Amino acid sequence: MRSIISASVLSADMLNLEEEIKKIEDNGIEMLHFDVMDGIFVNNITYGLPVLEQVRKATDLILDVHLMITDPLRYVTRFAGSGADYISFHIESESNTADTIEAIRRSGAKPALAIKPATPAECVFEYLDYLDMVLVMTVEPGFGGQSFIAETMEKVRIIREKAASLERDIMIQVDGGINDVTAAYAVNAGADVLVSGSYLFKAENMAEAAGKLRRADI
Ligand code: DX5
Ligand code: ZN
Repeated sequence: MRSIISASVLSADMLNLEEEIKKIEDNGIEMLHFDVMDGIFVNNITYGLPVLEQVRKATDLILDVHLMITDPLRYVTRFAGSGADYISFHIESESNTADTIEAIRRSGAKPALAIKPATPAECVFEYLDYLDMVLVMTVEPGFGGQSFIAETMEKVRIIREKAASLERDIMIQVDGGINDVTAAYAVNAGADVLVSGSYLFKAENMAEAAGKLRRADI
């Protein structure tokens, strides 16, 4: 199956975001990954609702919002209203997991549950029936440009097997340190959505880099 690429704009040129978005579109990338950090859940602060609204106006790309915030339940409806298609939140956050999934669904967006590298795969099992996607973090959330943690691949395998046993055709996304080499590990383990920030935006030729990520699924 062909992998979907989600370009993380955390590594984009923020002063030229519109051009960066066009570049993502022109290179045949399907999704735009929008990392929201509150400075408490993770040790970094990024952007939020007003920026997402502008991004939504600029593109028809699938908007994949990754909330790294302490209380996602409080904000998911507003992120959906500002244009998110998928909303990922962390199981390690303070919000009730089932209530947050339900609130995302009710707001019209697709719910995804994210787990940090140290969180066991089994923690997502009870929610698989209610999710469209699981996000397995392949670095500690907080910053772009970190190195891929290979041990997380076992969790991708475990979640893929469990989803298959439940006959759930769920998407599994990997995020952090994805490049032409690590993408192959992730795809072989059962991931189908590859988030990539620094690898795509630092490439001389984004189309070529995206092609290399895709060829990982052969
Ligand atoms: C990290 C973010 C990632 C980040 C990935 O906390 O969730 O989405 O942008 O960046 P790279 O691909 O550079 O590791
Ligand atoms: Zn992310």
